[in-house]
Amino acid sequence: MRVRFIDPTGREYLVEGEPGESAMRCATRALIPGVLGECGGAMACATCHCYVEPAGAAPPPPRADEQEMVSGCLEVRPNSRLTCQIILSAELEGITFVVPSSQV
Ligand code: FES
Repeated sequence: MRVRFIDPTGREYLVEGEPGESAMRCATRALIPGVLGECGGAMACATCHCYVEPAGAAPPPPRADEQEMVSGCLEVRPNSRLTCQIILSAELEGITFVVPSSQV
């Protein structure tokens, strides 16, 4: 499945995502600038914050603990998510993650 990342300069990256992996893992594997995933997905760092733009199906909504963590990020928007909490699946084909400019 294809996943698109856009870095703060507007550069686009098309990455082959593995169903079952998190969007953060997909991004760090592809060395997307600004997606660090420092805590490994334990929801303790927020260095995986991105804005999510679904192409088709939307990922399941965030749990309360993710919402709380995201609320502490810089440049929060309504579509802010922690990408470590979004598990890729075929239904999410074409989903786009935009890296906030505060993370580079
Ligand atoms: Fe640390 Fe997502 S990788 S909160």
